[in-house]
Amino acid sequence: MLIRNPIVTALFVLLLTAGEVQAGGDPVRGKTLTNDCISCHGSDGKGSFESPRIAGLGEAHIYNQLKAFESGERPSVDGIMHLYTENLGEQDLADLAAYWASLSAD
Ligand code: HEC
Repeated sequence: MLIRNPIVTALFVLLLTAGEVQAGGDPVRGKTLTNDCISCHGSDGKGSFESPRIAGLGEAHIYNQLKAFESGERPSVDGIMHLYTENLGEQDLADLAAYWASLSAD
């Protein structure tokens, strides 16, 4: 059977994991960029009375919001989120999204 062939199986696993890495940011690197975020969203990402929870949201959702804040497409109170995203690069936003998405929502 095809799947019993160890080389085919290894290639299959390799393909799967390669796809995963490409699709997402790096949560370990993302954590190193959270110095600013935690003062409002909390180190657990659960937010406060004025900042929403970001822990455990979908990675794509977080990334898309960060991109929208960065470009100014999505406004925020006093432009605060624009301020905290405008100096970040594409990879930074992807890695931040991966980190916050990896935290538990509850
Ligand atoms: C000075 C406070 C402050 C800082 C610092 C800050 N945020 Fe925010 N963030 C907010 C507020 C307030 C909102 C709500 C914006 C609105 O909709 O008006 C928000 C919204 C968001 C959202 C949208 C959530 C959703 O579901 O729509 C994400 C994602 C987010 N912040 C991530 C981050 C990340 C990542 C950082 C660090 C790079 C960060 N924030 C730094 C205050 C802050």
